[in-house]
Amino acid sequence: MSKTIIISNRLPVQLQIDNRKITATPSVGGLATGMKSVHSGGDSLWIGWSGLTDEEIPNGLAPEIDKALAKHGSSKVSLTTAEVDGFYYGFSNRTIWPLFHYFLEYAEFELESWNIYKAVNQKFADAILEKAEDDDIIWVHDYQLMLVPQMVRKQRPNVSIGFFLHIPFPSYEIFRTLPWRKEVLEGLLGADLIGFHTYDYERHFLSSVRRLLRLEVSFNDIHLDDRVIKVDSFPMGIDYKKFSDAAKKHHENKEVDKSELQKRLDMHKKNQPNAKFLLSIDRLDYSKGIAKRLKAFEYFLNENPQYKEKVRLIILAVPSRSNVPQYQLLKKEIDELVGRINGEFSTVSWTPIWYFYRSMPFENLIDLYTSCDIAWLTPIRDGMNLVAKEYIATRTDKTGVLILSEMAGSANEMNESLLINPNNFEEISEALLQAINMPKEEQQARNGILQKRLERYNVEKWANDFMTSLLEQKQNEKQHKSR
Ligand code: ADP
Ligand code: G6P
Repeated sequence: MSKTIIISNRLPVQLQIDNRKITATPSVGGLATGMKSVHSGGDSLWIGWSGLTDEEIPNGLAPEIDKALAKHGSSKVSLTTAEVDGFYYGFSNRTIWPLFHYFLEYAEFELESWNIYKAVNQKFADAILEKAEDDDIIWVHDYQLMLVPQMVRKQRPNVSIGFFLHIPFPSYEIFRTLPWRKEVLEGLLGADLIGFHTYDYERHFLSSVRRLLRLEVSFNDIHLDDRVIKVDSFPMGIDYKKFSDAAKKHHENKEVDKSELQKRLDMHKKNQPNAKFLLSIDRLDYSKGIAKRLKAFEYFLNENPQYKEKVRLIILAVPSRSNVPQYQLLKKEIDELVGRINGEFSTVSWTPIWYFYRSMPFENLIDLYTSCDIAWLTPIRDGMNLVAKEYIATRTDKTGVLILSEMAGSANEMNESLLINPNNFEEISEALLQAINMPKEEQQARNGILQKRLERYNVEKWANDFMTSLLEQKQNEKQHKSR
């Protein structure tokens, strides 16, 4: 029987070793949380990196690592510290990530990390080739593995390969600055189907293929030798039921079952019943616009002093890629901004910002989603942004307001939220006023529409649409070749 092989840098869990004891924690990020729902429901094998370098694995413990991953239907690609430095911290996160998010000034073009990226992509391809049968479906994910489709195709010309990019694909004018732009496109073209979150990313990719490789593109089909490669957009959804069920259960919790965080939130709500809680949850990443959001909050408080003691911003920033200098600098900037704003505006009974720099268990995420009146998400660029969708899914009584950056992929499907330009403080400030004062009926009307859409286009539908399209493409290609 054929199986699906999912391949991504991150596995659904990350392993840690303490005193030869192995523990697994859920991976954070849209790719892992989304694909986890797909993986747990079907017959698939997930290949990726465990989060540990070879040097971090004590002698004799490798078989235990394999066992720990097998419990999650996963199998590892081993990476040395030097490989992780060049491939993950290097080319993936110092070249592609900033470039594809339009932070051109942060992108480093280093030949050495490009070479390591190629070698590590080959390692991932070899891991697939070792496990894959000819009729298996191979689904490669994200910017860390853009050369893998072609590497697998070379060895197995007939196998079905899908590729999905979870981040934006930038415009040709940005993409063309990459020294290895042609190799990256050729790597991707090993797939039968290439998927993006939005129509714009799809168009940008096709335009780069046309202009850099001079290939024939008809509508969204690319013709390469005797192959036809399809390119399409598939906006990723969330596991809607998981979030809405968790929120329903949360509301049924008795006092003793509540988390410490929830008790603290409840206490503040009781003491200041008219105060509004604003929430933002992101990985600590410059693409998420956290520093700008803090400055916008300061602007709002200065412009609208009547809201002092009436609003509180909860910022949950999850540590991410902390070996990359830009992330370290951003952490410092955020620490300073939070300190400055709290220092400037706090009163004896009110601290304007609660700042958490950590990952939180799922239950606490639900505490925050369900307790906060406004979700405020202002990425400068974001492939999708699932947090926006998760917030709406947890609003069981349909109240709550979402303020969302129009630069997030999810903004295309969330027109009923308050869409803002993250660089425009005046517009943001007005959106905050509108959100704070929005009548309950209007909130419910907006969220009712959003919820229906998110429930329908959930992550399962996303995965099914992608798979169906991949199988159809393979079928068409067979017919095309037999003609
Ligand atoms: P990105 O993929 O860039 O990190 P998304 O908003 O698309 O951004 O996805 C983030 C995912 O990570 C969401 O599914 C969210 O639930 C999850 N997540 C965010 N913060 C935490 C946290 N503190 N603990 C656990 N999961 C988190
Ligand atoms: C984004 C990327 C994923 C990545 C995630 C977390 O969602 O698209 O590929 O896994 O961020 O980042 P990390 O570097 O921790 O894997």
